[in-house]
Amino acid sequence: MSNVKFEHLFTPLQVGPMRVPNRICETTNTINSSRAPGLIDEHFIAHHLAKAKGGTGWIGSETWLLDLPFPPGAPDEISLRGGYGSRYSVYQSPAFVESWTKFVQAVHAEGAVVSVQLTHLTSLWSPSPVPVVGAQDYMPHVLGEEEIEFLFESYAKAAEVAKASGADAIEIHCAHETIGYSFLSPVTNRRTDRWGGGPLERTRFVVAALERIRARVGDSIALGIRVNGGESREGGYDNMELREMLFHIAQTGLLDFVDMDTGHCWGAPSYVPSSYHPHAEFREFGKAARADLSELDKKVAVLFTGRINDPVLAEELVSKGYCDLVGMVRAGIADPDFANKAREGRLGEIRRCIACTRCIDEASEPMTVPYTPTCSINPVIGNELRWEAEYKAAAKPKRVVVVGGGAAGCEAARVAAMRGHKVTLLEQGKRLGGQMLIASKAPGRDSFEDQVYFEENALQRLGVEVRLETRAALDTVKALAPDAVVVATGSLPVVPQVPGIDLPHVVQGWDVLMGKAQTGKRVAVVSQEDYYETPCVAEYLAERGKDVVIFHKSVHLATEVARYSIGMVLKRMEQCGVKVWPNRLLKSVSADALEFVSSWGEAGYRESGFDSVVLVCGSLQQPALYEQLKADGSVPQLYLAGSAWVPRRLAEATRHGADIGLLI
Ligand SMILES: Cc1cc2nc3c(=O)[nH]c(=O)nc-3n(C[C@H](O)[C@H](O)[C@H](O)COP(=O)(O)OP(=O)(O)OC[C@H]3O[C@@H](n4cnc5c(N)ncnc54)[C@H](O)[C@@H]3O)c2cc1C
Ligand SMILES: Cc1cc2nc3c(=O)[nH]c(=O)nc-3n(C[C@H](O)[C@H](O)[C@H](O)COP(=O)(O)O)c2cc1C
Repeated sequence: MSNVKFEHLFTPLQVGPMRVPNRICETTNTINSSRAPGLIDEHFIAHHLAKAKGGTGWIGSETWLLDLPFPPGAPDEISLRGGYGSRYSVYQSPAFVESWTKFVQAVHAEGAVVSVQLTHLTSLWSPSPVPVVGAQDYMPHVLGEEEIEFLFESYAKAAEVAKASGADAIEIHCAHETIGYSFLSPVTNRRTDRWGGGPLERTRFVVAALERIRARVGDSIALGIRVNGGESREGGYDNMELREMLFHIAQTGLLDFVDMDTGHCWGAPSYVPSSYHPHAEFREFGKAARADLSELDKKVAVLFTGRINDPVLAEELVSKGYCDLVGMVRAGIADPDFANKAREGRLGEIRRCIACTRCIDEASEPMTVPYTPTCSINPVIGNELRWEAEYKAAAKPKRVVVVGGGAAGCEAARVAAMRGHKVTLLEQGKRLGGQMLIASKAPGRDSFEDQVYFEENALQRLGVEVRLETRAALDTVKALAPDAVVVATGSLPVVPQVPGIDLPHVVQGWDVLMGKAQTGKRVAVVSQEDYYETPCVAEYLAERGKDVVIFHKSVHLATEVARYSIGMVLKRMEQCGVKVWPNRLLKSVSADALEFVSSWGEAGYRESGFDSVVLVCGSLQQPALYEQLKADGSVPQLYLAGSAWVPRRLAEATRHGADIGLLI
């Protein structure tokens, strides 16, 4: 039990007419938890309600994408990259409203409040002919007066529906790639009519939208806006200008709260900050807004968000005046019960978000079909109902042996032990963690170690016998006479089969990260991996003063990192001086050169001047022990888990292990 006192975090706050039971907010996160598009289904309710049940006081759930003024015949634009634009909106569907109302009632029954976010999210319309998303080239249609009027009406109609559903708050989305944002920004708003001009003129659209909503729904529902604390875009507004605009908007008396995050949707910085960002990095923006707005007669609460995964930090932010309310979205994805655990003094039991960004990557550019919300470390996310149905105490406790203490093995052991089985985990290394430990050595990825701590604590609490520095073989496993065995022996780095690969100056990236291999000053990184491993290794080397050149097989580095995070990965490569040559496949290595062939054809390249060659070429599954146990046939229940089955990512290993824990 922790003796940390939360003197502020769990106190209620009056925000306009709404009483928020505590300061912890799930700001809106469109993780697409419903499996019935356009409807609130039981999966959506289970996902967001879990957070209310877990003690989060404010539920922002998922955004309402509003209707847009398409001209006759023009197709809707529903694109993962360009943004979402439709002539219809969910609030116009009676079935949606009915199911939403039930959701609101369910959240209220848990004592939490519901906020509805109204969003025109699109790259199709903008005040001026400038792409809304800075990193893209989607040219928007320029909004005319009738279309602007259409937008106000859609805000007002949606607000009426939100109020009728019993929701407690409405928030107009004026950050990220929304129309509200594009009016506030000097980059995307270059109008010379009444909607454009200096900072104050550029707030007119937002103020007019708020006025229209207030005229329609009155003062009995809290009203706020979501804003970006600083644009971080060439020519965009900085925090000083945002403060000026915000004060001007708040002076109208229309606002009850401001919901501030910082960053944009292409990642540098991202408003869903990855582990490369410090916790609550832009907290001073929250404090400044709070100080400014405190000068007004009407109290305007400040909700601040941005990589806050720890209730102790949240308490500090409230107690030291950085904000009134704390946004903690991914904290609740990683562990929906984190608030209750904190209040009950069970801090050590919290599974802290590692900010790997898989949740937003998956929501914005899904890798899985059918799509389900995904978290690298919480296997239940997106499958809440299945877990509810399938999670049962074991009818008869079994002797379970788990081989391998990576993500898959730890989760299999944790879930099996929670269900009452007697579990022994054998790990050849000095610590649990497997590849999570390797990843955690990279600059900005130390958060991966948090998950290792979580597993170490959880397994100890659950009485799992963990035997470290124990390499399992057929005999060692059989000697334990197990009823069930989970082989989670992971994967090992791929060695490309090319001439010269055995030369002494050729080493593996994993060994470099673990300090097991040293390199000279000039390093060639041979990359045949499209996610985070190559950037991790390259940055680790650059931080140690090496000159790093990456020869990468694909069109650009980290092609599988989605748009909310990729900017930060590439920016860090620039910042540490790493050079990247794309489209190069390794053909051979010699003492003084590397030969490559183009990924697209026959063109050949010879590169020289390197002291060391570091390989990051993906990994190969290690199922040998499983095959031996299978052939032996003496273990009644035998499973192969995680990257020992097929190397993918953390979420896949976590889920696979946990699901086996359910099956035993
Ligand atoms: C540098 C790096 C960065 C990464 N970054 C990301 C990222 O950003 N996002 C993401 O989703 N994924 C990332 N990954 C991949 C992710 O970490 C893995 O997919 C995941 O951790 C695999 O887990 P696992 O349990 O299947 O295997 P492992 O983690 O490989 O665990 C296997 C364990 O089994 C042990 N073992 C093996 N044989 C035996 C034996 N005979 N007896 C006892 N013990 C044995 C090993 O020592 C090891 O601890 C990264 C990986 C690396 C290396
Ligand atoms: C999967 C996902 C979807 C999101 N969707 C939205 C959205 O629809 N509207 C919005 O304003 N913010 C959205 N966000 C941003 C969050 O509200 C929040 O600002 C961000 O996650 C940073 O907070 P955190 O560090 O507590 O996660 C989303 C975040 C995630 C992880």
